[in-house]
Amino acid sequence: MTERLEAEAPGLARAADLLRAGQLVAFPTETVYGLGGDARQGTAVAGIYAAKGRPQFNPLIVHVADMAMAEQVAIFSDQARALAARFWPGPLTLVLPARPEAGISDLVTAGLPTVAVRMPAHPVARARCFWPLAGLWPRPRPTPSGKVSPTEADHVLEGLSGRIAAVVDGGACPVGVESTILGLDPPMLLRPGGVDVETLEEMLGQPLAFGGDAVKPNAPGQLVSHYAPGAAVRLEATNKQPGEIYLGFGPGPEADLTLSAQGNLIEAATKLFAMLRVADKLASARGAATIAIAPIPETGLGRAINDRLRRAAAPRG
Ligand code: TXA
Ligand code: MG
Repeated sequence: MTERLEAEAPGLARAADLLRAGQLVAFPTETVYGLGGDARQGTAVAGIYAAKGRPQFNPLIVHVADMAMAEQVAIFSDQARALAARFWPGPLTLVLPARPEAGISDLVTAGLPTVAVRMPAHPVARARCFWPLAGLWPRPRPTPSGKVSPTEADHVLEGLSGRIAAVVDGGACPVGVESTILGLDPPMLLRPGGVDVETLEEMLGQPLAFGGDAVKPNAPGQLVSHYAPGAAVRLEATNKQPGEIYLGFGPGPEADLTLSAQGNLIEAATKLFAMLRVADKLASARGAATIAIAPIPETGLGRAINDRLRRAAAPRG
C-alpha cells in the first residue's frame, strides 16, 4: 500500500526515512509532482524507471535544496550561477557538467557527462530531509477529455498506487507545467516550461536556440555517440567467440563481466553504464574488437536496458 503522508514534520520525517532506505516517494513541487528517489542509490533510481514502466533510460532531474548542494552535484560557470541566483528556487532546470565525485548514480544521468539540476520553490520539495533527489514527473494518462492533471497527490496515486512507498500530499501545484530546461555553452532551450523564453533571452542578452527534444535527448548527436563504446557490440550473444569480451546476464557461458549473476534486472540496470565502460576498457587492454552481450529479457526494466544496448550496438557515423 502506498502511504499518503501529510506535508508536516512527521510526514516529512517518514518520507526522509523511506528515501534513505532506497524507497520511492512522490513529492509536490511548484510545477508538478515528482517521483523521487535518492539520486546516489542506483537501485532507487532503477526503481523509478521500473515504477514508471519507462521503456527508455531518459536522464532524470536532480532536485537540490540549496546552492551548496547544487555546486556539489554540478560545475557552475559564472553564467550558470547568475541564472541560478535569478531564477532559483523556481521552475528552471539547468543542464551542467556533472561532478563525478558527487556519487550521483549513472542511471540518473543515463551515462551522460552532464546533469540536469533544479532547485524547486515548493516548501515541501525544499524540506532539508530530501536531498539530492532524482525526480521524474509521473505523467498520468490523459483523461477522457484529453487533459492531464499531474498536479495533485490523487493523480499521482491513480498511476502509481501500490508501486511506490508513499506520496507527500502538498495539495495542488501552483505552476502546473514542468520546469524550463536550459542547456549552456552555448545556451539552448531544451524544453519550454515554467520560466518563459523571453525572460531568459533578456537575461542572457541573446536569442535562445531551441535544442531539440529534451524528452528524447538521445536524438542523433546527443546520447547515441556518448554511449557507443570504442569496441563493436554484439547483442543476444549466447556464447563467447574468440577476440570478444563477454558481458553476461544470469547463468550462462563463463563471462568476463556480468550485469547480474542472478539475472536480476534492477541490478543489471544499476550496473549498465559502468559495465559498458569497464567492458570497453577491458576490450582495449586485451585487444578485443567486440563486446558480446548476453540476451536480456524484454520485460520490465529489460526493455529500457535493451533500448540502451541497441543504441550502443547501432552503426556509428
Ligand atoms: O518541473 C519539472 O521539471 C518536474 C518536477 C518534478 O521537478 N520534473 C520533470 O522531470 O519534468 P522529467 O523526468 O519528466 O523530465 C526530465 C527531463 C527529461 O526530458 C530529460 O530528457 C531532461 O530532463 N534531462 C535530464 N538530464 C538531462 C541532460 N543531462 N541533458 C539533457 N536533458 C536532460
Ligand atoms: Mg516528464
